[in-house]
Amino acid sequence: MIELEKNLLNKIDCNNIPSHVAIIMDGNGRWAEKRGKFRTFGHKKAIESVKETINVSRELSIPYVTLYVFSSENWNRPKKEVDSLMKLFHTNLRTNLEDIHEKNVKVIIIGEIEKFSNIIQEELLFFTKKTEHNTSGTLILALSYGSREEILRATKSIAKKICNGDFSLKDVDELYFKNHLYTKNLPDVDLMIRTSGEHRISNFLLWQSAYAELYFTDVLWPDFRKKDFYKAIINYQRRKRRFGRIK
Ligand code: IPE
Ligand code: IPE
Ligand code: MG
Repeated sequence: MIELEKNLLNKIDCNNIPSHVAIIMDGNGRWAEKRGKFRTFGHKKAIESVKETINVSRELSIPYVTLYVFSSENWNRPKKEVDSLMKLFHTNLRTNLEDIHEKNVKVIIIGEIEKFSNIIQEELLFFTKKTEHNTSGTLILALSYGSREEILRATKSIAKKICNGDFSLKDVDELYFKNHLYTKNLPDVDLMIRTSGEHRISNFLLWQSAYAELYFTDVLWPDFRKKDFYKAIINYQRRKRRFGRIK
């Protein structure tokens, strides 16, 4: 395994590392069900893959990594599953984020965090505050995140400014709009990875991924390891990005 990892790592071009990688961490439930366990077992196992992903991100010096942790639509799952996910966030946030802080990584949260319990919101605020001056890359956690909600929220906020006479409609451009999104200070997504064999975006970073390279793998998220991340980067580096131009 180590040999395979080394071979893959050697194929990575350090001069063509994506600035922003976004990951749809999917397949926890199926991973557990395949083993005759409750879905929560898969969610617990997922933490290991998150740690490995953060380690590779630092190893390759990827400046921005966004993880889709919990979507706006995930609130519609059975109460029992939502409750166990909340419990998992609560028990794991502090211990794992301490580890992230030691790696000098800055943490940003995107999404409707006001939907979480006060205790989880406090933990999230505590960590964004604690890591805000860290300089070895940024980890963005999408929590209660949905792109449509984000775009709607930005639109309403701009409309309000125009109605109040604080801004002029003719001056609304892409940059102004972008600056009203949760991701206002982040670069566009270069590479979007989705695990578990599903080929869809599921309301994730729609504006920010307009020109992202999409990479799908059948690996279920709890099985996602260093070698799988390397493979995605190697695949990305073989793509020809044209942005509508011809060269
Ligand atoms: C991703 O795994 C985790 C969350 C969406 C919270 P799933 O829970 O969607 O697992 P599958 O897709 O049902 O296997
Ligand atoms: C997307 O996975 C959300 C996260 C990974 C957090 P889902 O499992 O919720 O997406 P769908 O329902 O398969 O589209
Ligand atoms: Mg899923």
